[in-house]
Amino acid sequence: MADNPVLFEITDAHLDTGLRRFPVGRVRTSRVDPTDGVSYVGYPVADLANLDPEAAIYLLFNKELPSDEQLVAFKADLASRAVVSPKVIEILSALPLDGHPMEWLINGLTLLGMTGKTGDFKTDGLNLVARSAELIAAIFRIRSGWGAPIASDPSLGLVENFVHMMGVPGADAEKLTKLLRTFYILHMDHGGGNLSTFTGKAVASGHADQYTSLAAAMGGLYGPLHGRANQECLNFVKTVGTTDPDAIEKFVRETLAGGGKIFGFGHAVLRAEDPRATVQYALGKEICGDDPLFKTALAMRERAVAVLKENPKISNPYPNVDAISGTLLNASGLTDSDYYTLLFGFARIAGITAQIVDERVHMRNGRGVPIYRCSYVAENQDPRRLS
Ligand code: MLT
Repeated sequence: MADNPVLFEITDAHLDTGLRRFPVGRVRTSRVDPTDGVSYVGYPVADLANLDPEAAIYLLFNKELPSDEQLVAFKADLASRAVVSPKVIEILSALPLDGHPMEWLINGLTLLGMTGKTGDFKTDGLNLVARSAELIAAIFRIRSGWGAPIASDPSLGLVENFVHMMGVPGADAEKLTKLLRTFYILHMDHGGGNLSTFTGKAVASGHADQYTSLAAAMGGLYGPLHGRANQECLNFVKTVGTTDPDAIEKFVRETLAGGGKIFGFGHAVLRAEDPRATVQYALGKEICGDDPLFKTALAMRERAVAVLKENPKISNPYPNVDAISGTLLNASGLTDSDYYTLLFGFARIAGITAQIVDERVHMRNGRGVPIYRCSYVAENQDPRRLS
């Protein structure tokens, strides 16, 4: 291969396309293949789905899976970092209840920064991963009116402690923990160029700290075309209103004929069933096989795909990660879909902070990627004279 291979020929047609498929940098944590889906440091995500979430976090930060001893030490290290200032919880308690949980998260992240940043990207990244559990559990409890925050016990493990601190009324904690351990791993990272990750890295490139960068990243995830799509998917499955496959097919055809959207199907990059969805369909059969909404989602997997495939203009008729995640969360006791993006954010914080560490500390032989500064073509500007 030549020293400087041409990766991409930029033409006028590439402008105003949201940087779609533009190669802009290197990513060390994960890779997204249109057919095989995401892999973390070379491991297909489905092969990692049953690990300890901490082992997957270790993988993203260290680019190798931990040995048993390394995992024990890493879990203890993360647990020791899980210290949230009481001021954060106090201020959260004063936020307007009608703000979306993601707006609470964005506020909470900057509060965590104001009360505990070190300025070192790796230290702050790991601290943030560890502290996000208490922050997010507190958002659930305060905003949902479930009662005062429950004291943290980081020795339980990241997700186990999170479930303990949420104290979801009426939920089966064991079932919820099983689901959220997998959910966390599946949602951690998705290549370098998804909106929230790109935004977080862009902000960090100006040397803002991890907390502020992550608050910006979560602003990206909050958008209904990105992370917030997961809450819409459960609402959509509910509107189907039947588990009968023929009635479901009729519903899909009528929705499409009326110009409506089939939520949870298709993806910006993927061109096959998202392996994160495949893992969750299998998990659903185990934890909520008899749930009517799960049955609906399962039938949608077959019938919606068949109908969408009839349209040659649809490049990806297959389910993505959101097609089924909300149904499983709902069946496990987390029934308010407004919180689903918050759970996505909980997991994605691990991938984004790890990618920020890579860009700030490892890339370009340790010099880091320069401040992001791309070019826009102004009216009548000669593109050869771009600044
Ligand atoms: C995802 O997890 O599917 C994403 O963050 C969306 C994307 O890859 O653009």
